[in-house]
Amino acid sequence: MSSALQILDEYKGQVEAELERHLPRSGEPQEFFASVWELLDRGGKRFRPTFTFLACECVGGRREDALAAAASVELLHNMTLVHDDIEDDSELRRGKPCIHRIYGVPAAINAGDAMLIKVFEIANSSKLPPDRSRDLVSLIARRSYEITRGQALEFSMRKRKEFVEEEVIQLLRYKTGALTRLSTEAGAIAGGASKAQLQALGDFGETVGIAFQIVDDILNVRGDVKEYGKEIGGDIREGKKTVIAAHLLKAATPSDRRAFSSLLGRRSITNNQIRRAIRLYEEYGSIKYAETKADAYLQDALIDLQGLPCSDARNRLVEVARFLVSRSF
Ligand code: IPE
Ligand code: IPE
Ligand code: MG
Ligand code: MG
Repeated sequence: MSSALQILDEYKGQVEAELERHLPRSGEPQEFFASVWELLDRGGKRFRPTFTFLACECVGGRREDALAAAASVELLHNMTLVHDDIEDDSELRRGKPCIHRIYGVPAAINAGDAMLIKVFEIANSSKLPPDRSRDLVSLIARRSYEITRGQALEFSMRKRKEFVEEEVIQLLRYKTGALTRLSTEAGAIAGGASKAQLQALGDFGETVGIAFQIVDDILNVRGDVKEYGKEIGGDIREGKKTVIAAHLLKAATPSDRRAFSSLLGRRSITNNQIRRAIRLYEEYGSIKYAETKADAYLQDALIDLQGLPCSDARNRLVEVARFLVSRSF
C-alpha cells in the first residue's frame, strides 16, 4: 500500500498537464497570464483532484475519464483561494504573498474570475457521454454556488461575539465541505456511479472536508509557518469562527471569555495578544477538543465508504483521508 503522499504525487502530474493544456501562459497583458498561473505554479497538496480520480476508479471508471473533472476541481479550489485571500485580507498563501498582495485587488479579482470561467470550459471539454457531461457541469455550478453561500455565512458571522459549535460546523459544511463533496462527486459522475454510490462518495467528501477544515484551523494556531504556508494566528485576527473558539467560549470563565472575545477579530492585534489567545486555547483544552472532533468526523466519513465495493481505489481514499487529518501542512 502506498503512503498518502505517494498517492497524491501519482495523480498530480496529470492534473497539472491538463491545466497546462487549457490555460495559456503568455499573451498580452503579460501580468494577466502571470496572475492566473501564480498560485497554480506554487503547487499545493492537490488532494481534491486525487479524490476525483479515486472516486471514479472506486465505481469502476477509468482514470482518464475523470481527467477533465479533476482539473476543473483543482482550478476551482485555486480560484476560491485567490478570492478568499482578498476577502480575509490575508498575507501568505503557499508560503508566499497572496495574489492580491502582488498584483493588487482588482487584478486578483479578475484572475479569479478568469479561473472560474476556465473551470467550466475544462469541465465542458470532457469526452464523457452527454448525460454525464451535463451532470458534471451542473454539479460544479451548484457546489460553486454553495461555496459562495458559505463564504457569505462566514462574513455574516464576523462581528458576532457569541456562536456555538453547530453554527461553525454548518459554516464548514458549506465553505469547505461543498468543494470536497464536489471533488468526489465529480469523479463518481465521470465513472458512471449509481445514485447510491454518488450519494455515498459525496457524503464521504463533505464529511472529510469538515474534518480537514477543523485541522486546518488547528494548524493556524499551532502549525509551523514554513510548512503551513499561511500566517500563524491569522484566524484570530480575522475573527474566524472555528470549533476551537466555540469550545473556548463554552468552557471558559466569564472573565476569560470576555478577554478572548475582545481579542478575536481585533484587526490591530499584536503578536503578544495572539499568543495570549492561543494560551487560553491551551489552558481550556480547546485545541485537544478540536482534534477529537476532527477525528470523529473522519471516522464518520470512513463509514460512508463501507457500502462501496472493496478496491485498491477505496483503500487509497481512506489513506488520503487519514493523512488530511494528521497532516502538518
Ligand atoms: C486550503 O486548502 C483552503 C482550506 C479549505 C483550508 P488546502 O490546504 O488544500 O490548500 P493547498 O491546495 O494544499 O495549498
Ligand atoms: C477556506 O477558507 C474555504 C475557501 C477558501 C472557500 P479559509 O479562509 O477558512 O481558509 P484559509 O485558512 O484561508 O486557507
Ligand atoms: Mg482564508
Ligand atoms: Mg475565508
